Amino acid sequence: MDSSPKIAIVTGAGSGIGRYVAVALAQNGYSVVLAGRRKEPLEATALEVGQANYQTLVVPSDVKDPSSVRELFAKTKDAFGRLDLLFNNAGISGRAMPLEDLTYEHWKSVVDTNLTGTFLCTQEAFKIMKIQEPRGGRIINNGSISAHSPRPNSAPYTASKHAITGLSKVTALDGRKYDIACGQIDIGNASTEMAERMKKGVPQANGTIAVEPTMDPTDVARAVVYMASLPLDANVQFMTVMATKMPFIGRG
Ligand SMILES: NC(=O)c1ccc[n+]([C@@H]2O[C@H](COP(=O)([O-])OP(=O)(O)OC[C@H]3O[C@@H](n4cnc5c(N)ncnc54)[C@H](OP(=O)(O)O)[C@@H]3O)[C@@H](O)[C@H]2O)c1
Repeated sequence: MDSSPKIAIVTGAGSGIGRYVAVALAQNGYSVVLAGRRKEPLEATALEVGQANYQTLVVPSDVKDPSSVRELFAKTKDAFGRLDLLFNNAGISGRAMPLEDLTYEHWKSVVDTNLTGTFLCTQEAFKIMKIQEPRGGRIINNGSISAHSPRPNSAPYTASKHAITGLSKVTALDGRKYDIACGQIDIGNASTEMAERMKKGVPQANGTIAVEPTMDPTDVARAVVYMASLPLDANVQFMTVMATKMPFIGRG
């Protein structure tokens, strides 16, 4: 990684993978803008990042809300003058529910957060990255193993994460002319609050309930830092980082 200061926005930075990645980026020379709906967890992340002695900016924001997203990127530009990296990480899984019982509101809240939120942030990042000097930047989207294969009763989450794959590809393609690179990390069972239920047992495709192996989110953060560390003429298009023995490869 070169030594010039870099600016990153991490959405969903108040917990889980977002917090691990924010801290790891700060330890690798980034000033980090911390975004998420709740202020207190973002401030707790800022305290952790502060120990790495880099500048942080806490911007409570809702990625589902276009005006809130515009404000997030405007505040970043005001504070730092540029944007080198966007980690589109904010996401919700929603409650597991039979497809036929899903409410419209439930469907919409998951898709609005995971897919529309990623799009809105990407659009604002493009506006900054395409005209800044030096030009360009990198966008890393947080997909999932659910971008490849569903869990039972997970229609909105699985559909939104499959759609992220399409958005990552079109972002990489449309970003070429502006020196904007886009890659996707697909995570499986990193030990965060969202994955806590894996340790208790989760429904499997054959109707049984099984405890699933998990992995340390620090290993996800290291992977994101690696993706971010490449020069803009190189890109990790897709990376899968998963608990080695989780049921995915081998059909179970
Ligand atoms: N953990 C895993 O094994 C795993 C596997 C595959 C994919 N992922 C993906 O990794 C990402 C992070 O998950 P995690 O495991 O770290 O879970 P998490 O701890 O629940 O993190 C989700 C974060 O997103 C934020 N968020 C939710 N809705 C938001 C909104 N509308 N606007 C802004 N921020 C919002 C939350 O903060 P607020 O509630 O304060 O907004 C929270 O900090 C998600 O996209 C998830 O799908 C995780």
